[in-house]
Amino acid sequence: MEELEQVKSQIKEFIKVCNHQKSLELLDKLATGKMLRSKLILKIAGVNEESIKLCAIVEMIHAASLLHDDVIDEADTRRGQPSVNALYDNKTSIMFGDILYSRAFTELSLMDKRVAYTISNAVTLLSIGEMMDVDLTESFNTSYDLYLDMIYKKTASLIEASAKAAAILAGLDENKYALYGKNLGLAFQMVDDILDITQDSATLGKPAMHDYVEGKVTIPYLFLYERVEDKTKLASLYKKELSSEESAWIKEQMKITKALEDSILQAKEIGNEAISAVIDEKDSQTLVMIMKAMIEREF
Ligand code: FPP
Ligand code: MG
Repeated sequence: MEELEQVKSQIKEFIKVCNHQKSLELLDKLATGKMLRSKLILKIAGVNEESIKLCAIVEMIHAASLLHDDVIDEADTRRGQPSVNALYDNKTSIMFGDILYSRAFTELSLMDKRVAYTISNAVTLLSIGEMMDVDLTESFNTSYDLYLDMIYKKTASLIEASAKAAAILAGLDENKYALYGKNLGLAFQMVDDILDITQDSATLGKPAMHDYVEGKVTIPYLFLYERVEDKTKLASLYKKELSSEESAWIKEQMKITKALEDSILQAKEIGNEAISAVIDEKDSQTLVMIMKAMIEREF
């Protein structure tokens, strides 16, 4: 997609300004993801100088958050490639995250005030969401509301802000697009949490069935815990490296209790709420397509 290439070269331009060779080198080491946030911004605001800048800013913030997250999660892979903390070390990952993040904020300060406010405020939510995520791994969480609040902050807030900021740039109804973005983001994280169970590590580009080992009680596990007969067994496997029998048992129980099926339904329902928010807007069909493509990433 031509416009996504424009976003990538904008990011490079923003980093070139630093006049620091190692930053450019590190930028090259980052594996590009789906660029969901950019696709969303460009669909809402169209392709123009300001929207490309906004995309670059948001992608840089997102990349910075993942550089920090991989240190926090002690992850060796990101998007199927070695993470920067694995290739270099934790310090480099944090420092390069800081460079990306602060360069993005400098550029953001030059944009429309409401856009700058919307995006910068979301980064605080993002950071709080990450802390909640880590804190929730301290002990077995059984609260769906806490999970929902955490994924809203950790993941949906920046997607919500991207859609809202794009609507501000385009002079559209920002509240409708914010609601679309928020629900898209919630559904997106739920799908991610489901894929952790249904996909193999080759497809995921990171270890499969790893959330529960890491202490993350995601939506399928929340539903499973409510319904499973042998709660003691499920609780005993929490934060443990799973044998293949134990993984198979969890997957089987997910099927029997319909925990997985109902998690998929819940993600779809939230996805439909996203669509309802913008259904009367012009070009709503492309927003529907973005939502569907995101939800239907093979369960
Ligand atoms: C990935 O979650 C992490 C996030 C979506 C947010 C991380 C946010 C921060 C580290 C705070 C913000 C920091 C800056 C510099 C802006 P995950 O671990 O569930 O997903 P994964 O499996 O892809 O790692
Ligand atoms: Mg992580």
